Amino acid sequence: MLNRIHFLTRNSCRYKSSFAVALNAVSKLVTPQSLLNNPISLVSNEMNNLVRNIIALIGTGNPYLDRVSSYYFETEGKKVRPLLVLLLSRALSEIPMDKRQIPPYLSNDNITTSLNNSIQWLKQQPVESFTPLNIFQGLTNADIKHSRFHPLTQASLSFKNNNIESFDKENGILPRQRRLAEIVEMIHTASLLHDDVIDHADTRRGKPSGNVVFTNKMAVLAGDFLLGRATVAISRLRDPQVVEIMSSCIASLVEGEFMQLHNTDEYDPKPNTGKKSTSISKIDEAFDYYIHKSYLKTGSLIAMSLRSAAILSGVKPNVIESCYEFGKNLGLCFQLIDDMLDFTSSSKQMGKTTNVDLKLGISTAPVLFAWKEDPSLGDLIERNFELPGDVERALQLVYKYDGAKKTYELAREYRDKALKNLREALPESDSRSALEFLTNSILTRRK
Ligand code: IPE
Ligand code: MG
Ligand code: MG
Repeated sequence: MLNRIHFLTRNSCRYKSSFAVALNAVSKLVTPQSLLNNPISLVSNEMNNLVRNIIALIGTGNPYLDRVSSYYFETEGKKVRPLLVLLLSRALSEIPMDKRQIPPYLSNDNITTSLNNSIQWLKQQPVESFTPLNIFQGLTNADIKHSRFHPLTQASLSFKNNNIESFDKENGILPRQRRLAEIVEMIHTASLLHDDVIDHADTRRGKPSGNVVFTNKMAVLAGDFLLGRATVAISRLRDPQVVEIMSSCIASLVEGEFMQLHNTDEYDPKPNTGKKSTSISKIDEAFDYYIHKSYLKTGSLIAMSLRSAAILSGVKPNVIESCYEFGKNLGLCFQLIDDMLDFTSSSKQMGKTTNVDLKLGISTAPVLFAWKEDPSLGDLIERNFELPGDVERALQLVYKYDGAKKTYELAREYRDKALKNLREALPESDSRSALEFLTNSILTRRK
């Protein structure tokens, strides 16, 4: 009898028997609340292997570079981005196959041929042509051969299961989508290494930040290196649209940081034009600038990776678009809360130094809301809080006019939009519930 049930269950995807449908429905009914309340548990296998797989993708055999580039992976981050990619991929797999189109270049045969060509080519290349380790002091060819991780091994090249039918197996997550989750975390981590240099940070994830431990130069290089390896992994997803999208969001991250730098005295030592900044249109303009910058530095990576996850699952353009919008709105919600927490949370709670944005000359939503109420703040914003007492005065006004609470309310609006996008994009499922839960928890997060 058990065997019979197993047989029926195993074949349920193919035949969609009424028994299998009923079984599926019952299993949903008995899904414990704890599972729904803990989004990670639905993708725990993938999340558990995430860092290990990333380490395999970034290994060089050069212990110095390995040490710096893997440093931020040693501590537990929130890993929101890969979690979103994995849960969305799982939720997308609930969309019936007859409502999806698999692009011809993703057909099993084409991928296998293209991977085999790459593997053949790589096998013909001497190791040194990728990473000339012999030029590093103290490393010989023998060290290279015995290095723990060869960067471009067959294992890191191939996807075990390229079959389209794998949509409905193993959680519904495609090997390519799993790799995408790793890529997103690599790009994010690279942006943190660079951001900590830009912001002169001293702490990240409760430990001294990369720039402090390894110097600015090494942190920048390690960030570049991660982006380089992420780009290799992106190109191996063998989807031209995804390559374009993910490459463009790397550029967006830089553009966003640049827009922020442009607003600080580091970029322009004399930004004060002497004009009074009191007009409403100027405040609105500053808000637009802030939201655009936030999209570029935070929203774009989330939005584009979710768009990519949807493209890889072959869903229709309107679903792809809703996934993108979901990521964009969620990303904006995330950054607004990050900027609010800079005012309201402690360094201990956050694992990074808080109350730094004003000191860096950066005006975020809480200050902009206070500016709406007190036009005198405009002068301080224009001169990037550089005069003695500016930071303290701005802080007072943020508290007086509830800048943090108003920021929270704006974040809630983006949260609501994100939830709407989710419901437009996806059929009901435990993964969608987990995504809804995660979306809500981004609004209420404390770190
Ligand atoms: C973080 O930016 C890095 C990016 C989003 C590119 P922030 O400077 O605003 O955030 P924290 O406070 O250092 O994490
Ligand atoms: Mg920073
Ligand atoms: Mg920054």
